[in-house]
Amino acid sequence: MEGVTDLPFRRFIRELSKDKQPFFVSEFLSTGSSLFLTPVNTRAVRFDKEEEPFCMQLFGHNAERLSAAALQVQELGAAFVELNAGCPAPKIANKGSGSGLLRDLPNLQKILQSMKSVLKIPLFLKCRLGWDENSIVINEVLEMAEGCGVEQLTIHGRTKVQGYKGLANWNAIGEIAAKAKIPIIGNGDIDSAEKALNAVKNYEVKGVAIGRAVLRNPWIFSQIANAETKKITASDACNAVLRYEKLLRADSMREGQIIGRLKQLSARLCLEFSPDFRLKVLHSETVREILDNWGAIVQTI
Ligand SMILES: Cc1cc2nc3c(=O)[nH]c(=O)nc-3n(C[C@H](O)[C@H](O)[C@H](O)COP(=O)(O)O)c2cc1C
Repeated sequence: MEGVTDLPFRRFIRELSKDKQPFFVSEFLSTGSSLFLTPVNTRAVRFDKEEEPFCMQLFGHNAERLSAAALQVQELGAAFVELNAGCPAPKIANKGSGSGLLRDLPNLQKILQSMKSVLKIPLFLKCRLGWDENSIVINEVLEMAEGCGVEQLTIHGRTKVQGYKGLANWNAIGEIAAKAKIPIIGNGDIDSAEKALNAVKNYEVKGVAIGRAVLRNPWIFSQIANAETKKITASDACNAVLRYEKLLRADSMREGQIIGRLKQLSARLCLEFSPDFRLKVLHSETVREILDNWGAIVQTI
């Protein structure tokens, strides 16, 4: 997830997933500028040895730029490259990138062929079901992906127009998974070990991709590995925030960015506790204030 799952966040999740490491994908990397390794991308392509095999995700709509960037991430040590055909943000989708590619399947095909022709490592695709409910193209996308030699397809079971509204359509994901020759990873609304395990059992998917739930429950991967759902205590949550702050600092993040990241995590992590506390954390002005507020909640719960 862009703006969330960068290197320090993944280090944080790895520490909490001792039993079994998740398979990580980078934040998506823009291919919009002629220079691929912009300062933003240069930070985002970093990964630890322990994350291998690591997947780097690209977005864009220009076949030449995408294949040039694919070559670069291959040289940087990515084990897999994934093309994003799912992002619904208007500034991306309306320009024909992300889920905008689902409105221009000939261009999607050209991009997949072009990326495939330069890559030695496997190419993956991540997409939604279609642009809107009147233009569901997931069947065509599967056929195209298989024809182009894509080796894994992750499907977020919503349309672009849905954004994040409603529920992900797991039946649609399951129908595709049942006929696919390549592994299908299902995505959308998985927020517990139980849901993850049921999805794999009931929908023929090879695995699940988890996004937002990792902020509310950073222990989710360990819980899936152990098929258990443990109630998170205030003390667990507080210790996790303290640790995340150390990892952010160790990655030379500026104070303002650390505040943003700690609020991003805290806002979801503390949903289990009091709403008053959530507001207090979100209104904090310094890192110290955020951490003190967490200390206070441990005292009161
Ligand atoms: C803040 C944010 C950033 C995201 N960035 C990306 C991204 O860079 N690449 C991607 O494939 N999906 C991205 N997504 C979408 C998620 O990976 C996932 O497909 C979507 O949230 C549905 O899954 P979930 O219900 O498990 O969150 C992002 C989602 C959010 C909320």
